[in-house]
Amino acid sequence: MPANKPRLRALLLAAGKGTRMRSRLPKVLHPLAGQPMLLHALAAARAAGDEQPTLVIGHEGEQIRAAVGEQAAYVEQTEQLGTGHAVAQARAALQDKADLVLVTSADMPLLEAETLQRLVDAQTQHDGPFTMLTVVQDNPRGFGRILRAAPGGPVQAIIEEAEATSEQLAITELNVGTYCFRADWLWSALDKLSPSEKKGEYYLTDLVAIAVDAGEAVAALVLDDAEQAIGVNTREHLAQAEAALRYRILRGHMLAGVTIQDPATTYIDASVSIGQDTIIKPNTTIEGATVIGDENVIGPNCVIRDSQIGDHCILDGSYIEGARIENHVDVGPFAHLRKGAHLQDHVHIGNYAELKNSVMGPGSKMGHNSYLGDATVGANVNIGAGTITANYDGVNKKPTVIEDGAFIGVDSMLVAPLKIGQGARTGAGAVVTKDVPAYTLVVGMPARAIRKLEGHD
Ligand code: UD1
Ligand code: MG
Repeated sequence: MPANKPRLRALLLAAGKGTRMRSRLPKVLHPLAGQPMLLHALAAARAAGDEQPTLVIGHEGEQIRAAVGEQAAYVEQTEQLGTGHAVAQARAALQDKADLVLVTSADMPLLEAETLQRLVDAQTQHDGPFTMLTVVQDNPRGFGRILRAAPGGPVQAIIEEAEATSEQLAITELNVGTYCFRADWLWSALDKLSPSEKKGEYYLTDLVAIAVDAGEAVAALVLDDAEQAIGVNTREHLAQAEAALRYRILRGHMLAGVTIQDPATTYIDASVSIGQDTIIKPNTTIEGATVIGDENVIGPNCVIRDSQIGDHCILDGSYIEGARIENHVDVGPFAHLRKGAHLQDHVHIGNYAELKNSVMGPGSKMGHNSYLGDATVGANVNIGAGTITANYDGVNKKPTVIEDGAFIGVDSMLVAPLKIGQGARTGAGAVVTKDVPAYTLVVGMPARAIRKLEGHD
């Protein structure tokens, strides 16, 4: 019979001030690829096996709770006395619930779930009290240095940069700050920490020396992908993490069949999904809860935010926010689709067109210099250049309905509330203040009917 699977709990440290960011916003809430840094670390910990990781919060803890909500459990560290002290705050919450405790930092947004999983697996097979993650790289980035008895020999200690000698500073094996502990050992060993000499903090990293002094072996898993070890302590690190995360997202899309012509100028949030054979041209930003289908051509110069796009669309040089676009639609350049814009199949939107809270039915066209607000447009309607819905009287927003097959002449002012009947026409420069019956031509200011259209007497 195999032994019972050890109960794993993940603990994320997020109580520090993040002083080096020089920010009013807590460090771990700075956005990366469209979401607070800490949510990346949290997602990895969840995927590695703890549905509800525990966050140690302190500085601006309420803001962190508000951003993360129920995805995490919380313990408070009221005074930031170091990483060892931070972990000790979780003892009461976790000691009866975990056999293994995975400790990581909320400021390590690039660590992948698979790496955390490997660390847990390594500790499951290790007899000693814990396994830690290390990385070998030339730029030390302020990380703790790993001291080994001999190259490749057992780990002896972690020396924090502030406490290191010049000889120790030259060591290139670094502490990632992620560990998997045997829980019973962790809770008792934390009592043995004493404040560090220079900073007076309780360093979690001193647990290595404590274990070694007690004759216990600490295992180290060396990370071969150094990018995952990008920790964020300054805004320069934040930009480095953003670049690495951004490329990781782009690579994921490319591997899944999306063409990205110029990764250097393409910005896609982690939350975006894109279908096969869609082509993203340069200088394009796609953000928020955006879902894009197959075989579209997007960009150059598009910004798309919180929108749904179907298949076979061409979106060129436009701002598209909170919009829904169905299939075979073309937009732009220089169009602005705002919240509630909904374009059905085969719609054409040209340049200098703005739509807000408006539906365009199948096959309808709006080629140039027009604004539709709170409008419901049927199928196969032509909106002439310069058409404006006057939908706002200073107090209320009012609706405009344009029925199937209507033809709105250039420079028409449509004063809402208004209904333009099926197949009706407005003459160039009409100021339409009253409903227009079906198949009727109206002209002038205010527009008046002059005749029924041919075939509709
Ligand atoms: C820490 C490690 C260092 C490692 C580096 C990797 C220690 C002493 N040092 O240094 O060896 O190379 O991470 O990123 O552990 N925190 C609290 N409460 C505190 C102090 C910190 O919750 O009292 C949290 C911070 O919010 C942060 C994490 O712990 O998320 C690490 O703290 P930070 O100050 O960034 O430590 P580093 O200097 O990066
Ligand atoms: Mg750090």
